[in-house]
Amino acid sequence: MVFIWISADPRFDGEPPEPPPVFDGVVGGSPKFVDRMDFDAHMDHAVVGLMDPTHAPYVHGQWWSRKARGQHDKAKAFAPTDRGFVMTRHPPSKSNRLYRLLGGDPQTEITFALPGQRWEHVLVGKYQVLALTCLTPVHDRKTRITQIVWTDHWVAGLLAPWFRRMIRVFLHQDGDMVNLQNEGLKYDPSLLWIDDADKQAKWYQQLKREWMASRQAHRPFKNPIEAVILRWRS
Ligand SMILES: [Fe+2]
Repeated sequence: MVFIWISADPRFDGEPPEPPPVFDGVVGGSPKFVDRMDFDAHMDHAVVGLMDPTHAPYVHGQWWSRKARGQHDKAKAFAPTDRGFVMTRHPPSKSNRLYRLLGGDPQTEITFALPGQRWEHVLVGKYQVLALTCLTPVHDRKTRITQIVWTDHWVAGLLAPWFRRMIRVFLHQDGDMVNLQNEGLKYDPSLLWIDDADKQAKWYQQLKREWMASRQAHRPFKNPIEAVILRWRS
């Protein structure tokens, strides 16, 4: 992976003031799966779509990922991190068959960090899965989604072609939603965000505002997020 620091000052010439990101998890070696797709969306819409916790049963509702029927009340603990927030380690939804494929008793942790990185780290017995999604702005109406998965779980080798296809299907489904959303955004509506389901989207905006304010004032970034339990139904 190549991370590029883009300074707000076009004449900036020197070492980036921030180190490249470090992703938790100790799955070594090269990635098992890499895929990417360009979405016709501004970076902000792509980020918010990515972290929307309730879209999965509507957008990714295949037999292998969700039960056909039945949504459940969710309560998830969140905490601030260096440049974002984390959904703290928890057993994933029982209705999600992807996790059930891993067997055992999986525990997952999902982290978001500015500018647009989200990674899920699953521990199941001695095995790990680290799934990283990076968003790269191409221009103000195009965003590249890069999906990278490392794992030492035996099931990934066994079902590699199927997993590869599945990642593709997921990306296409999100891309189709972006295209539908663009139809609505043509009319420049004010976006209706609902707590707690859209709290992460609001945090993203707060993080960005604080990042820019702290850069302008030449002071350290101070994470505005406080630890909280969010509840929604999905
Ligand atoms: Fe999605």
